[in-house]
Amino acid sequence: MIHEQMHMFFRGFRRDSHPMATMVGVVGAMSAFYHDSTDVNDERQREIASHRLIAKMPTIAAMAYKYSIGQPFVYPRNDLDYAANFIHMCFSVPAEEYKVDPILARAMDRIFTLHADHEQNASTSTVRLASSSGANPFACIAAGIACLWGPAHGGANQACLEMLKEIGTVDRIPEFIARAKDKNDPFRLMGFGHRVYKNMDPRATVMKQSADEVLELLGVENNPLLQVAKELEHIALNDPYFIEKKLFPNVDFYSGIIYEALGIPVNMFTPMFAVGRTVGWCAHWNEMTADTTTRIARPRQVYTGAAVRDYVGVDKR
Ligand SMILES: CC(C)(COP(=O)(O)OP(=O)(O)OC[C@H]1O[C@@H](n2cnc3c(N)ncnc32)[C@H](O)[C@@H]1OP(=O)(O)O)[C@@H](O)C(=O)NCCC(=O)NCCS
Repeated sequence: MIHEQMHMFFRGFRRDSHPMATMVGVVGAMSAFYHDSTDVNDERQREIASHRLIAKMPTIAAMAYKYSIGQPFVYPRNDLDYAANFIHMCFSVPAEEYKVDPILARAMDRIFTLHADHEQNASTSTVRLASSSGANPFACIAAGIACLWGPAHGGANQACLEMLKEIGTVDRIPEFIARAKDKNDPFRLMGFGHRVYKNMDPRATVMKQSADEVLELLGVENNPLLQVAKELEHIALNDPYFIEKKLFPNVDFYSGIIYEALGIPVNMFTPMFAVGRTVGWCAHWNEMTADTTTRIARPRQVYTGAAVRDYVGVDKR
């Protein structure tokens, strides 16, 4: 898609829209622009659509961000790699020379790689469900972005950052740890525990290494939020309650810390997840559509409502 078209799309959105709203709109609108890669039965066309989605997504996310803060769009640079290019498009301004720090680019690359796929999560299943009808590829991925937007999915690291803000200072951590252990208090430590992993999430191990590198480079001394995060991690890893229940810091805990250290605003956390996850969505979409035995998805449901309900006249309701 040429950038003139991108400008046109963005002009239709309010500046204070969430970047995810803009992404759902722009990615869905790609279906109105690319008419030559929509035959889902043609392997080459599927490949082209996937390349377009994976290549455009960082540009769209960075543009959504720039648009939301009222700064001019920064175009992609072909001499930079995927992650460095994304950082450049988000943080450089036309008036100044911008050099991407290789440690930050490496951290971003790891974030994208670790978020690329995670089997039948909600957004990937949404993409598969939408594509089972043979729908347009760009529309299917827009459906995945819409699902990812929710706080129970792509929004988890945002919730983690909000919790760190609520804790505020290191001296308040014991109070929150006590609340997390209290059966009568619904509070949970965000960024700890996982539905599937009952040992350390292997992605979190790699992400922790990146978080340590980034924090060492940028320093945490002046950032109370990051100080709280480091202390919370230390306490939780050594506390019998968390050890016994196998509640390790998860991938969202560390990615939230890295984003905060990089100065990435909270409303960009989920768009960055969307950039990384696009690879997985495309892979699932390709796998499904290539399979000639695929049938339209039709989850069954069990009716649990009333067996008999008498008709009540409109005048009596
Ligand atoms: C991720 C999560 C939903 C997994 O839930 P789950 O696999 O269903 O685990 P359960 O809810 O059965 O929890 C098992 C026990 O650990 C406790 N627990 C789980 N996560 C906890 C947390 N983050 N803080 C405090 N206690 C927690 C539960 O209270 C439960 O205690 P019990 O055995 O005394 O009843 C859950 O750990 C959680 O809410 N984490 C915080 C949110 C988060 O970080 N989400 C992103 C996930 S990638």
